[in-house]
Amino acid sequence: MKAIVYRDYGGPEVLSVAEIETPRPGPGEMLVKVEAAAVTTADWRLRAAAFPGILGPVGRAMFGWRRPRNPVLGSAFAGEVVAAGAGADIAAGPVLGFVPGGAHAEYLIVKPGQCVVARPYGLDAEAAAALPFGGLSALVFLRDVAKVTPGARVLVLGGSGEVGAMAVQVARAMGARVSAMASAPNLALLHELGAEEALDYRSQPVTGLGRRFDLVFDTFGACDLTQARQVLVRGGQFVPLNFGLREMLQALTNCLRARKLRLHVSTDRAGDLAELVAMQQAGQLRPLVGQSFPLDQVRAAHALVESRHKRGAVVLRMG
Ligand SMILES: NC(=O)c1ccc[n+]([C@@H]2O[C@H](COP(=O)([O-])OP(=O)(O)OC[C@H]3O[C@@H](n4cnc5c(N)ncnc54)[C@H](OP(=O)(O)O)[C@@H]3O)[C@@H](O)[C@H]2O)c1
Repeated sequence: MKAIVYRDYGGPEVLSVAEIETPRPGPGEMLVKVEAAAVTTADWRLRAAAFPGILGPVGRAMFGWRRPRNPVLGSAFAGEVVAAGAGADIAAGPVLGFVPGGAHAEYLIVKPGQCVVARPYGLDAEAAAALPFGGLSALVFLRDVAKVTPGARVLVLGGSGEVGAMAVQVARAMGARVSAMASAPNLALLHELGAEEALDYRSQPVTGLGRRFDLVFDTFGACDLTQARQVLVRGGQFVPLNFGLREMLQALTNCLRARKLRLHVSTDRAGDLAELVAMQQAGQLRPLVGQSFPLDQVRAAHALVESRHKRGAVVLRMG
C-alpha cells in the first residue's frame, strides 16, 4: 500500500510517499481502507519535533529521540472497515476515528478499544476526517474542563482554526454566548459558526476588549494568564491548549485565586466521538474542511498547517 513516511524530523521535505506492506488485522482488530485523513497541528509538531515548551525532551523520549519511532503520521481519519479479526467492535462499513498514528496511509489497523465509531452515510469522508481532532478537544475542554453552562460568556481565541471552529460551535450548542477572535478575512466565518461577536486580533488586543468573560479558551497561545485575568470575571477560567512549565507552575500556585487557570490534555474516547457525530447529525456541528489535498501533495498540506492560518481542518484524500 501507499503511505506517507518520514524517517527524520524536519520540514515538510522529510515527508514522502512510499510503498509499504499492507497490515493484516489480528483478533479484535479492524483493517480500515482510509479515504481521508486530517493533517493536524499534532502531525506537524511530530514531524518537526516541535513540541511546545518543556515538552521538547518529553516528546522526543516518547516519539523517538534522534528520529521518529513510528514513520507514518495521521490520527484523525475516515474510511471503511474492509476486514476484521474475530471479536472486532465493528464488522464492516464506513467509520471515522482517532488513533495514535498510522492514518496517513491507504490502510490502517484499528486496535481493540481505540476511538472509532460507525459513520452515518450522509457524512462524507472528508468532513468526517475533519471532525475528531478539533471536535474531541473542543468537547472535552468545554464540557469536562471548563464545565460551560448555558448563558456563560465564552471567548474563543483562534476561533477559525481546527479546534477553534469546533469550540465556537460546541460552546453555542451548550448554550453559551460566544465571542471569537481571528484575523479580518475569517470574521464572517466566525459568525457563520455561531459566534455572536467576531473580533480581529490584529486590531483588538484581548486586554483592550473592555468587558469580561466567564471563560477564555485560547486555542492558539495568543495570551497568557496575566492578560486573560484582565478580561475574566471573578470565578472565571483561563483554559489554554498550549502550555509549558510556566503555566504548570501557575496552575499549582493559582488555585486559591479568584480567576483560575485550568490545564488539561485531550483524550480520545469513542463515546465522545459518537456524541460529536450525533451533534453533526442534529445540525449542531458542521465539520469545517478548509482545504483538501491529494496524497502526493502532503508537503503542501503540512506547510499550510504549520503556517497556523488554516481554516478548520486540512484533509488528505487517500484514494
Ligand atoms: N492540550 C491539548 O491536549 C491539545 C489538544 C489539541 C490541540 N492542542 C494544541 O492546540 C493548538 C490548536 O491547533 P489548531 O490546529 O486548532 O489551530 P492553529 O492552526 O494552531 O491556529 C489557528 C488559529 O489561530 C489564529 N491565529 C493565527 N495567528 C495568530 C496570532 N498571532 N494571534 C492570535 N490568533 C492567531 C488563526 O486565525 P487566522 O488564520 O485568522 O490568523 C486561527 O484561528 C495546537 O497548537 C495544538 O498543538 C493541544
